[in-house]
Amino acid sequence: MGKISIASFSARKKGNCSSLADYIISKSLNYQVEYIAIKDLNIHECKNCNYECMSKKCIYRQDDAYMYLRSTKKADKVIWLVPMYCGNPSSLYFKLNERSQDFWMSNESYYDEFLNKLFIIGIGNVGMANPFRQIFELMYHDSEVSYEGHILILGTQKYSLNSIKDFLIARTGVKEEVDKFLNL
Ligand SMILES: Cc1cc2nc3c(=O)[nH]c(=O)nc-3n(C[C@H](O)[C@H](O)[C@H](O)COP(=O)(O)O)c2cc1C
Repeated sequence: MGKISIASFSARKKGNCSSLADYIISKSLNYQVEYIAIKDLNIHECKNCNYECMSKKCIYRQDDAYMYLRSTKKADKVIWLVPMYCGNPSSLYFKLNERSQDFWMSNESYYDEFLNKLFIIGIGNVGMANPFRQIFELMYHDSEVSYEGHILILGTQKYSLNSIKDFLIARTGVKEEVDKFLNL
């Protein structure tokens, strides 16, 4: 049985990321699905260190960052659900991204495999000058793997989401976009 690893980078338990995760889980009955809320992990910020990750190992390696990234090795598909906060991906996204330096220093050969199975769904209102999508594309910059087909932005304005209490998944066309993107 194939495995799917879904991670939400939202600060809250119930919202668009979790309801999208619920939907993906409901459509993935032939898979073993693991859902992780990054907010529930213990991930230390990149601070109060001397960049040990660059030469030896991160002094915070025993927290959940390395463990989470290592857990994705067992997955056939890794899905990240990332909300926009103040024009950017949420800080939980950046926090894991920074700390991943330590993981990639010792798992370099896994990077392309990871990018091939990574699918990012960003949630937010993306205007012309907003680099939300481009920030996700940066993951792919140092790789031969193309980001094409790996990033989906669900525009909240496009789907007329007016309040943080509105649910994207209930809007006409969202399920179809997600199905097509993830080949569900
Ligand atoms: C602190 C904060 C800042 C936000 N900033 C933006 C923003 O700049 N643009 C936007 O489109 N939505 C913004 N939002 C709305 C969230 O992207 C939206 O509510 C999203 O659904 C959050 O994910 P969740 O529902 O899984 O929690 C913000 C929400 C919060 C809590």
